[in-house]
Amino acid sequence: MADATIDTTGTVEGTSEGETGVRRRDFIEIAAVSAAGVGGLAVLYPLISQMAPSKDVLAESTTEIDLSAIETGQAIKAVFRKQPVFVRNLTEREIAEADAVPLSALRDPQTLEERTKEGRTNWLITMGVCTHLGCVPLGAAEGENRGEYGGYFCPCHGSHYDTAARIRKGPAPLNLEVPEYEFTSDTTVVLG
Ligand code: FES
Repeated sequence: MADATIDTTGTVEGTSEGETGVRRRDFIEIAAVSAAGVGGLAVLYPLISQMAPSKDVLAESTTEIDLSAIETGQAIKAVFRKQPVFVRNLTEREIAEADAVPLSALRDPQTLEERTKEGRTNWLITMGVCTHLGCVPLGAAEGENRGEYGGYFCPCHGSHYDTAARIRKGPAPLNLEVPEYEFTSDTTVVLG
């Protein structure tokens, strides 16, 4: 077969008439696909660059908490990814109360040990968001109502959480969520 060349208008030279129509159509299709490819990439890049998390979002994705000022029996409220987090330093008695509850008595069965880090059962870190409809339960601040089970109490519709922040009474279906976190020292945790 003779070599064929294509000029800028899409005219094919050096081919027989029968081939010309086919080759010309191929060229138009190739040109159209190429244009679509370039257009696709041009659209894709801004999308990808928009999807990449900004520095603000990356900074917000972890939260460091200093535990050194939280005495036994105290709790603090912190903010993690724009939501409240409760950090409680449980007393021996609160730990014993949580451990004494049989799993069969729990709506969302979990031991305190499963909800804390090994060797640090006194540090109970949970989201401060009721699992019913998302209110912020009471109990983290000094003097607040801690409910019938000594943990947290959600006044919106009356959910009671125990000393391991497990749901014990009221409409909430689940325990207060334990976020992902790690101890980076004996007195520092990083959430996220
Ligand atoms: S939102 Fe907490 S009990 Fe309804």
